[in-house]
Amino acid sequence: MITEKIDSEVLDVAGPNLKVVSTNSVGYDHVDLNELRKRKILFGYTPNVLTDATAELTALLVLAAARRMREGICAVENGEWKKWSPVWLLGTQLTNKTVGIVGLGRIGAATAHRLKPFLGANGKIIYTANSDKQAATELGATRVKFDMLIREADVICICCSLNNQTREMFDYDVFKVMKKNVILVNTARGPIIQQDDLIRALSEGLLGSVGLDVTTPEPLDPDHPLLKFSNVTVIPHLGSATLETRTTMGNLAVENVLAGVRGQPLPSPLEL
Ligand code: DGY
Repeated sequence: MITEKIDSEVLDVAGPNLKVVSTNSVGYDHVDLNELRKRKILFGYTPNVLTDATAELTALLVLAAARRMREGICAVENGEWKKWSPVWLLGTQLTNKTVGIVGLGRIGAATAHRLKPFLGANGKIIYTANSDKQAATELGATRVKFDMLIREADVICICCSLNNQTREMFDYDVFKVMKKNVILVNTARGPIIQQDDLIRALSEGLLGSVGLDVTTPEPLDPDHPLLKFSNVTVIPHLGSATLETRTTMGNLAVENVLAGVRGQPLPSPLEL
C-alpha cells in the first residue's frame, strides 16, 4: 500500500528469497526502485485501472472549488442559510477559462477530457510535460513551460507524479505569480506542494480556491491550519476510491504477486 515505505531496511529483512514487490497503486514514490533494481526484484503496480476514477475526482474537486461547495454545505449545516440572495456565495464557472494540467499523463489527459466540455468554444487547455503528448492533439491542448502555465491558467490541476523534479514545485514564488482567483487542485501527491508556503499564500489572499485530495502529512490533523480556510476543500486521498476501481486494483496487485512468485511475467510490471 502507499502507506508502506519499501526501502533497503525492509528488503534486508525480507532477505534474498524476495522475488517481487507489488504495490496496490499507480504511484510508487514510497518504493526505492534503485534498491529493487540492484537486487533484481520485480516490481508490479496498477496503472490504467484507476485513471477514470481519479480523473473523475479531480474534475469533481475543480467544480467543487469553483462553486464554493464546501462553504455552501457548511452554511446549510450551520444554519447560515437565510433568504435566497442574488449575491450570496457566488463562485465562478468554467466557461471560457484556461485549464492548466501539470503532467498530461494518463490521469492528466483523462481529467482534461472531462473538463473540456465545461470550457465552451473559447476555453483553452494548456499543459506541461517533458515532451509533446499524443493526447494533446485530440484535446486541442498546447504544451507550455511551467512558468507560463502558472501565470495563464485559471484552473490548475496537479496530475504529475512525485519525484525529485516535482517535489515542492509549487512554492510561495509560484503562488505569487498565479492569477489571484486561480483554482488549484492537487490529486497527485501532497509534497508536490510546499504546504507551509500554500498556507502563507492563502493567508495573504493570493489564491482563489483550492481542492486537495492529498496533503502532507496524511492524515491531516483536524486542527491543521489548512482546514481553517473556507476556500480550501480537503478530502482524504479518495482519488481511486470507487468500489469498481479498488476491486480491480486489488486483483491486479495480487496477480502481480502471484506471477512474480511463480516466475511468470507480471501482468502489470514497471520496467526497472
Ligand atoms: C495511487 O494509486 O497512487 C493512489 O494515490 C492511491 O490509489
